[in-house]
Amino acid sequence: MCIMFTHKSLSLSLSLTHSLSLSLSHTHTHTHIPSLSPVAPLVHSFTDTLTQRRIAMALRDVSSLLLGLLVLCCGAWADVQVNMEDKVEAFLGDSAQITCMFASDDGIGAMIMQWLYVTRSGDKQRIYYQDATMKVVDRGTPYTDRISVNGTGATGEVVLTISNVQLDDELEFICLIKSLTDGIGEGRTRLRVFATPNFPTVEAVQTGISVSEDDPSKVGTCEVKNGYPKPNITWYRDNTPLRSRPGEVNMVSSVTTESSGLFSVVSELRMKVTKEDKDALFYCEVTYFVPGATLMTETSRFNITVNYPHTALDIWVESPKGKIKEGDRVELQCSGDGNPASSIFTFKHVMEEIGSDSNVYVLYNVSRRNSGVYECTVFDPDTAEEVFQNTTVFVNYLDSAVVMTDDRKVVHGEQLTATCNALSSLQTETTWFKEGEEISKGHTLILNDVTYDTAGTYMCVVTVPEIESMTTSSLLHVDVEGPPEIMEQDTELESYDKSVQLTCHGKGYPAPQITWTTSDGKVVTSTPTETEEGFESLFTVHVTSNITAVCNASNKYGADFVTYNIKAITHTTTPEPTTISQSTVQAETAIPPKKIKKESNGVIIAVIIICILLLAILGSVLYFLYKKGKICGQSGKQDLTKEKSSKDNIVVEMKSDNTEEAILLGVNGEKLLTSDQ
Ligand SMILES: *[C@@H]1O[C@H](CO)[C@@H](O)[C@H](O)[C@H]1NC(C)=O
Ligand SMILES: *[C@@H]1O[C@H](CO)[C@@H](O)[C@H](O)[C@H]1NC(C)=O
Ligand SMILES: *[C@@H]1O[C@H](CO)[C@@H](O)[C@H](O)[C@H]1NC(C)=O
Ligand SMILES: *[C@@H]1O[C@H](CO)[C@@H](O)[C@H](O)[C@H]1NC(C)=O
Ligand SMILES: *[C@@H]1O[C@H](CO)[C@@H](O)[C@H](O)[C@H]1NC(C)=O
Ligand SMILES: *[C@@H]1O[C@H](CO)[C@@H](O)[C@H](O)[C@H]1NC(C)=O
Ligand SMILES: *[C@@H]1O[C@H](CO)[C@@H](O)[C@H](O)[C@H]1NC(C)=O
Repeated sequence: MCIMFTHKSLSLSLSLTHSLSLSLSHTHTHTHIPSLSPVAPLVHSFTDTLTQRRIAMALRDVSSLLLGLLVLCCGAWADVQVNMEDKVEAFLGDSAQITCMFASDDGIGAMIMQWLYVTRSGDKQRIYYQDATMKVVDRGTPYTDRISVNGTGATGEVVLTISNVQLDDELEFICLIKSLTDGIGEGRTRLRVFATPNFPTVEAVQTGISVSEDDPSKVGTCEVKNGYPKPNITWYRDNTPLRSRPGEVNMVSSVTTESSGLFSVVSELRMKVTKEDKDALFYCEVTYFVPGATLMTETSRFNITVNYPHTALDIWVESPKGKIKEGDRVELQCSGDGNPASSIFTFKHVMEEIGSDSNVYVLYNVSRRNSGVYECTVFDPDTAEEVFQNTTVFVNYLDSAVVMTDDRKVVHGEQLTATCNALSSLQTETTWFKEGEEISKGHTLILNDVTYDTAGTYMCVVTVPEIESMTTSSLLHVDVEGPPEIMEQDTELESYDKSVQLTCHGKGYPAPQITWTTSDGKVVTSTPTETEEGFESLFTVHVTSNITAVCNASNKYGADFVTYNIKAITHTTTPEPTTISQSTVQAETAIPPKKIKKESNGVIIAVIIICILLLAILGSVLYFLYKKGKICGQSGKQDLTKEKSSKDNIVVEMKSDNTEEAILLGVNGEKLLTSDQ
């Protein structure tokens, strides 16, 4: 035996030898190698014809005999050297080409070539036969319609092409060459089929995962479908592949074979999560083979909700941001550092539960009773632990303003002190106003030396500088008490009428009693009418002669009076029968009284006018006497007579005229005398 082949052919050659020895001892029925007879499979295919069977049997016997003779005569067996690739890879549906190379000194005519495959049960099934005379594709095999064989023995290279490769084609294909001179040789190639799987999908666990779970919890599921061969799934956490660790990380893959024969793989990741896993990104990677390479695809990243208990809480007033005042809407908020599946925040005030709907609690229209410590509690059902925190809320308040004074009534000339303030939790400021005008700042209002003008309504406004919108106010009515003050001055007036109405008005509190007294003995007491400024009293005097009327106003603080002197004037020349309405017309305006000073001026003017008239008359009398010539016609002793006569005239005149004229003449006469001298 010549055993001098490469490792691939070595075993084949040995087995061939073994089979040959078996066939020689007529126990070939047990052999695992198909019969060298080229028509042996044909027998199975064409069992219906007896003739063919006979021919086949005859041929087999002949070939067996020939082979036996060949072995016996040569003494040494020379195998055909067949070279084939270990494996050929092809995508599902593509074509696969299996090349068979052999070396032989024989021409093609002296060779028999067969293609076979090894069935899953280990049997060999021929699919192609070729010799010098024929090329036969075996009928009834899965390859009957899908194979073609190219090339001839002349080149020493034959290619079996399998089209539309199926998953079942993943078999070992045998190229068997028999040369009459060089003997027999075979090569084997395994066909590998590949299918690219679908894009993998990942499904994250939607519910939160508690860190306090005892066993690894499901994190996600990764699935890849329709791959061949089976793809692998690897889980990643933050770009680091996860490895199984008992009790910590657990990845369970399950493979299903689809009806198509393709594999689908589902992998479930279970792990014990920690708080840090809340920020981790998970994904899975699928590796799969393709002809000549290993490829991989990644799923999208996903994160998980990790539930971990609160270790600390915080409670605070979310709004208002500044100081709280009564009437405000106060929003309390509570938050913890944990992320439990079911954190139930409970708000308590004065040890009493007030709410637990959410982590927000709102107090509407707060009052000072809402002040105090507010506590937020959270209970973690996983750990059965309770965490709490508190905050103090203070509601500021400002009560109604209160004005305090010793007495609302103040005596004229004295001092009034009033204080105004409101009870408040904060510092207050007071501002005083009178008739809308600011008059003073500070809680205490001091009014010195009060007058009747001081009386009126005062308003104090109490504010809280720290909270602008807090304000309250109150009113203070001030009455000034004191003796009456009459506005009118003492007056002298004339009246041409029979009656005069007099007015007397002034201020004084309480309202004074008014007593009108006249010089003719009348006394009238009345209560005055109150006016805006104070009081007023009217009085009608009947003027028959000069009369004096006194208005005396008095109250408990004192009295004031005013005197009206009325001079009665009776006019005969101009008797004006005027009637004055007592109620409506005031005496002063209705009958303008003539002042006494004015009257004396008029008398002087009248006297001067009368004097001038008298002088004019005297002048004209003297002129008349001169013209008659009784005195002026004589010469010599003219001056003496003239003097005497003039003296006589004066005497006469004095006797005849009234006293006023006499005075005037007297004056005149003296002048005349001096001028003469
Ligand atoms: C096989 O032969 C056919 C025709 O005989 C030819 O069309 C085809 O290209 C050949 N294939 C190879 C791989 O040589
Ligand atoms: C987790 O995923 C959600 C939505 O997918 C995203 O809004 C969130 O920001 C992610 N968290 C982290 C920590 O990446
Ligand atoms: C899948 O994993 C197995 C076992 O680790 C390995 O033998 C095989 O080559 C892997 N397949 C791929 C496609 O990586
Ligand atoms: C707010 O509360 C006070 C008493 O505390 C009440 O008088 C007032 O009417 C309330 N206001 C509103 C708007 O409810
Ligand atoms: C509020 O919390 C503080 C510390 O957080 C604690 O000292 C105090 O006793 C608590 N007060 C109440 C009323 O719970
Ligand atoms: C009235 O008074 C005036 C001066 O005031 C006086 O001259 C006159 O005589 C008086 N008349 C009477 C009637 O007394
Ligand atoms: C005015 O009246 C008061 C009280 O009746 C009295 O005391 C006072 O003397 C009176 N004055 C005059 C001027 O009559």
